[in-house]
Amino acid sequence: KKVTLSIIKADVGGLAGHHVVHPDLIATATRMLSEAKESGIIEDFYVTNVGDDLQLIMTHYRGVDSKDVHSLAWDTFKEATKVAQKLGLYGAGQDLLSDAFSGNVRGMGPGVAEMEFIERTSEPVVAFMADKTEPGAFNLPFYKIYADPFNTAGLVIDPKLHSGFKFEIWDLIEHKQYFLNAPEDSYDILALIGTTGRFTIKRVYRKDNNEIAAAVSSERLNLIAGKYVGKDDPVAIARAQSGFPALGEILEPFSFPHLVAGWMRGSHNGPLMPVSQKDARCTRFDGPPRIIALGFNIKDGKLIGPTDLFDDPAFDETRRTAQIIADYMRRHGPFMPHRLGPEEMEYTTLPQVLKKLEEKKI
Ligand code: 13P
Ligand code: 13P
Ligand code: MG
Ligand code: MG
Ligand code: MG
Ligand code: MG
Repeated sequence: KKVTLSIIKADVGGLAGHHVVHPDLIATATRMLSEAKESGIIEDFYVTNVGDDLQLIMTHYRGVDSKDVHSLAWDTFKEATKVAQKLGLYGAGQDLLSDAFSGNVRGMGPGVAEMEFIERTSEPVVAFMADKTEPGAFNLPFYKIYADPFNTAGLVIDPKLHSGFKFEIWDLIEHKQYFLNAPEDSYDILALIGTTGRFTIKRVYRKDNNEIAAAVSSERLNLIAGKYVGKDDPVAIARAQSGFPALGEILEPFSFPHLVAGWMRGSHNGPLMPVSQKDARCTRFDGPPRIIALGFNIKDGKLIGPTDLFDDPAFDETRRTAQIIADYMRRHGPFMPHRLGPEEMEYTTLPQVLKKLEEKKI
């Protein structure tokens, strides 16, 4: 029997701006998912937030893209939106881009990372959840986890990892896919995924037996809506140990606070700062972009845990570096490359300003 792990998330309103989810939304989602667990739709769940994004982590036996599970998530976000409206939270229902739900949240606004697999005797998994950035933020760290032996010792010394991993890469503009293998296609992989706004790592498989190793959400809200509707604030799942990278190999690349697109008004590059769940609240310039990692064991379909993996002094220097980078980037004010380039700014409110300027053109 294969178990499915689904993370489905949406921003349905923030307390005091795009800052943090209100506890009443967490309570509403917890109530809805408890009922669904009792009625057997899902096996187990954990509700949390990163910044203003409400996160539903669920296990079930219904496979990926399950109508029942997606409907449950959609109804939960709808119900939470009602609470957000009542409380006057900012951007109530922000990520629910359509009223016509058709059985799958893909393309409707919420972000999704799901995978189905046969549960191992011990099944450690990491749930990554980020705010104020986009799916391409996972390209650099996930490349390092699954293709860089300077990050992942197991690629060199563990025979179960030694043959490498297969990357499923999505072109979010042309809606095409690539399947490329590491290490042999690594330069091709990098040629694509270095363009973080367009090419994203969707899934990773162990090459020798095609076993699913990782999944990332791929929703780009601005591309769906055709205008600025906030950032995508992606999520990802990675399986750890026994034939997959060790837990610490999965966390290691996040010790480098690399620059990602998002931050203020979804229009700026800034450092991705790994934080504990309690620090997953965006403040400075609506950021800096933050990521949390929760570790679970899945046992008989139940979620054991979580453990708050970045709640650790081992990441203090990373956070300090991120602050220094934040200071440095902020000093550019409205200038590139702090502010994003014209291609990405197309989906913000900047074109409206530039359009008005046309009148002054001589
Ligand atoms: P243990 O010997 O504690 O299981 O550690 C193995 C391992 O994967 C460490 O990275
Ligand atoms: P969110 O996508 O997190 O709502 O961010 C929107 C924004 O404009 C932050 O400045
Ligand atoms: Mg928001
Ligand atoms: Mg957000
Ligand atoms: Mg958002
Ligand atoms: Mg041990």
